[in-house]
Amino acid sequence: MHSTLVIVGASYAGVQLAAAARETGFEGRIVLIGDEADAPYQRPPLSKGFLTGSFSEARLPLRSQAFFDEEKIEWLPSMRATHIDRGRREVELQDGSRIAYDHLALTTGARVRKLDCPGATLDAVHYLRDLRDARRLAQTASTARRAVVIGGGYIGLEAAASLRQKGIDVTVVETEPRLLARVASPWMSAFMQDAHARNGVAFEFGRKVIELKQTGDAVSVVLDDDTHLSCDLVVVGIGVIPNTELAAECGLTVAGGIVVDECARTSDPAIVAAGDCAAFVPHWAPSDSRACRIESVQNANDMAKVAALAIAGRPQPYRTVPWFWSDQYDLKLQMAGIHSGFTHHALRGAVEERKFSLFYFRNEALIAVDSINRPQEHMLARKLLANGVHLSARDVEDPAFDLKGAVQ
Ligand code: NAI
Repeated sequence: MHSTLVIVGASYAGVQLAAAARETGFEGRIVLIGDEADAPYQRPPLSKGFLTGSFSEARLPLRSQAFFDEEKIEWLPSMRATHIDRGRREVELQDGSRIAYDHLALTTGARVRKLDCPGATLDAVHYLRDLRDARRLAQTASTARRAVVIGGGYIGLEAAASLRQKGIDVTVVETEPRLLARVASPWMSAFMQDAHARNGVAFEFGRKVIELKQTGDAVSVVLDDDTHLSCDLVVVGIGVIPNTELAAECGLTVAGGIVVDECARTSDPAIVAAGDCAAFVPHWAPSDSRACRIESVQNANDMAKVAALAIAGRPQPYRTVPWFWSDQYDLKLQMAGIHSGFTHHALRGAVEERKFSLFYFRNEALIAVDSINRPQEHMLARKLLANGVHLSARDVEDPAFDLKGAVQ
């Protein structure tokens, strides 16, 4: 008799895990449970083309209905899993029904961190995580004239760029002294700040929002130095919280995320986890490091493939070089590797032409590369990092140096 794989969470990791399970030869029943009504969709366009109007909703689905039919993946929309009974190997759903599993995958993702101050629930306040958020934001942005963006991370900056492209005035409020502090080096933060400033974005750094006040049609965003920013649209992008409650409640190990080993296995051998909700010690970190989460489409997809192999009984450690991208104005920012702990960096290309890469080294080792409008160099960087190629800062800075040749 065939076994049943139940997947809780129907976004990138969940859909990829279902597809990868079939690719690895899983012939049993696959049930994909998602609490959203919309068919699983791409999220990156939501803060970019979907908001500016250049990317239609029809193009958003991750997979066609034909894919789910052909692969016999039972997708349950608008359905929350409410409890996991590990003893009986059953998942309880919000309608009270139960589904028995042999393998369970948790791909529950993350939810937005909410602003917590008076006025935080005013109508003008928008978040941007799911398609419902994006539809509502696009609607408001069609008539808005002045926006305050709270949070200078990926969401805040992509939203700021899209809103500027629509001719809306934008001020970004960020608690840290620089943009993208969680993910970018100070050099790259400064470059991105300059790009936004050139496009007319104003900034308030090191400031907290203490209150939002409705005054007629406008909203006043009050900062902790008593600055009042008047606007008709507020976009909040202040990070995400992993959805770990289901896992914690059934006794799985949770520490800042659902803790998994290098093969995406949780503390229960019948349960894997992948994507934004899963925490692990990355292969490039010392083995006694704390588990961390990586929030990216790449991580969701690649970890899901690793989880599918674990389910198939062919576990393989997760070794992929992490990469990220962000499109803002005419800038394609692509990041490969993790730059934290870098000792020095080297520049290749021309900053003034907005086509360059920044190579980060920890002592002698290349650990990360950020590229601006150099997609081919980004692809090479991923290979250089994967192969552990030794390069010096001088090599990188020499335009005649054959980077492609160094990969082989
Ligand atoms: P984020 O963690 O990238 O940035 C949040 C920013 O908000 C940080 O700069 C932080 O210092 C700031 N912040 C926190 N609390 C604040 C407060 N009270 N007031 C003002 N600033 C505050 O998270 P973000 O931008 O919300 O993105 C959410 C998720 O979506 C992340 O997982 C991100 O990786 C993902 N995402 C990725 C994209 C990409 O890879 N291109 C694009 C958009 C989103």
